[in-house]
Amino acid sequence: MRFDIISVLPGLLESPFAHSILQRAQKKGISEIVVHNLRDYATNKHKSVDDYPYGGGSGMVMAIQPFAACIEKLKSEREYDEVIFMTPDGETLNQGIANQLSIKKNIIVLCGHYKGIDQRIRDIYVTREISIGDYVLSGGELPAAVLVDAVVRLIPGVLSDETSALSDSFQDDMLDAPIYTRPADWNGHKVPDVLLSGHAGDIEKWRFEQALERTKQRRPDLLE
Ligand code: ADE
Repeated sequence: MRFDIISVLPGLLESPFAHSILQRAQKKGISEIVVHNLRDYATNKHKSVDDYPYGGGSGMVMAIQPFAACIEKLKSEREYDEVIFMTPDGETLNQGIANQLSIKKNIIVLCGHYKGIDQRIRDIYVTREISIGDYVLSGGELPAAVLVDAVVRLIPGVLSDETSALSDSFQDDMLDAPIYTRPADWNGHKVPDVLLSGHAGDIEKWRFEQALERTKQRRPDLLE
């Protein structure tokens, strides 16, 4: 699976993709993540990527030309399943969307800045608009990193224990059960006996009950 991310601050995305699971996915050749500097596609003298808003108002607007040039170049090289714009007014990312995207082959992700991007980029190129939550960040880079992480870890072969993505919180519309490791007794704070019992059936039942209870308490909306 390939992600092409278009950004004015490509440096912001270096670290998230250079560590841990995302790094391993790329090293294994399961995922390719390419970051493009939008400024490289600006044809004006100053390589500027933004301009004043028509109709007035504060803030600058990201212009259509550099985005169009970068997207057109990418599209001439391969077919894309989605062109995603990270924006607080998009649909809110959840595990279901991550699952859907994890079976795609090629995805372009656009990162906005300033006041936003020219609406025509959205009208002409964007197939899906995704938010990572009801708060506003300074740009789309961190949201893009969140999206890529949520998706790539679901691709078979990326996680070493393949079942672990399946037992993640949200994967069955439920939160995860509590987990513990050694020691079994920390200053009198004990690990539940059932987890030490060795009875797989009892442990599974306990985990299900705990997950259900936690979901009821914290996120009853998931059970509706
Ligand atoms: N850009 C700025 N804030 C954002 C958010 N919450 N989700 C996605 N993209 C964004």
